[in-house]
Amino acid sequence: MLIRDETASDAPAIRAVVTEAMKLLPQASGTEADIIDRLRAADALSLSLVAEDGGEVVGYLASSDARIGAEPGWSLIGPLAVVPSRHCEGIGSALMAEAISRLRARYEGAALVGDPGYYGRFGFRTFPKLRVGGCPPRFIQALPFNAGEPQGELIHHSAFGLHQRE
Ligand SMILES: CC(C)(COP(=O)(O)OP(=O)(O)OC[C@H]1O[C@@H](n2cnc3c(N)ncnc32)[C@H](O)[C@@H]1OP(=O)(O)O)[C@@H](O)C(=O)NCCC(=O)NCCS
Repeated sequence: MLIRDETASDAPAIRAVVTEAMKLLPQASGTEADIIDRLRAADALSLSLVAEDGGEVVGYLASSDARIGAEPGWSLIGPLAVVPSRHCEGIGSALMAEAISRLRARYEGAALVGDPGYYGRFGFRTFPKLRVGGCPPRFIQALPFNAGEPQGELIHHSAFGLHQRE
């Protein structure tokens, strides 16, 4: 399996993988593939990694720039998706390891909204003062690289379509 940057021809396969994987997630909005397209159109994908196996895209991870409270320099990881027929083969972990390794050199830290049961294994954890309006706090996690304790609202790119209070 190969983890690599997306190329222009990957976009339809990325849409298919993300759409199929997110069907398994009850809290998914169904707009995750659209968010990726909007981030790409805005040139806001800091990472757009695909996992390729046998010439097929089997997994995907995006990241974009974010802010926590007044602090810039954070990276927001997501969406992350692996095609359901290939779950539990280490593909998600390989995408996360590559993302963290690349982001560590360029950002104060990484943050995400997701299941703590999964992301804890990569060092992500909750912080008492880290929040995303309307989202249960246990799902909002960060991995500081250089930064201290993240405090405040995690501000996503507008492509996520969230109406956030600054
Ligand atoms: C979450 C996801 C990306 C994991 O990809 P994957 O390639 O199957 O993950 P890995 O093979 O690296 O890791 C599998 C391990 O994670 C565990 N795991 C997967 N999802 C989990 C979750 N939501 N909570 C807790 N553990 C989880 C598996 O049980 C397995 O555990 P094990 O190592 O003890 O056997 C994939 O399940 C997926 O695409 N899910 C639907 C979309 C989604 O939930 N995206 C993330 C939130 S935005």
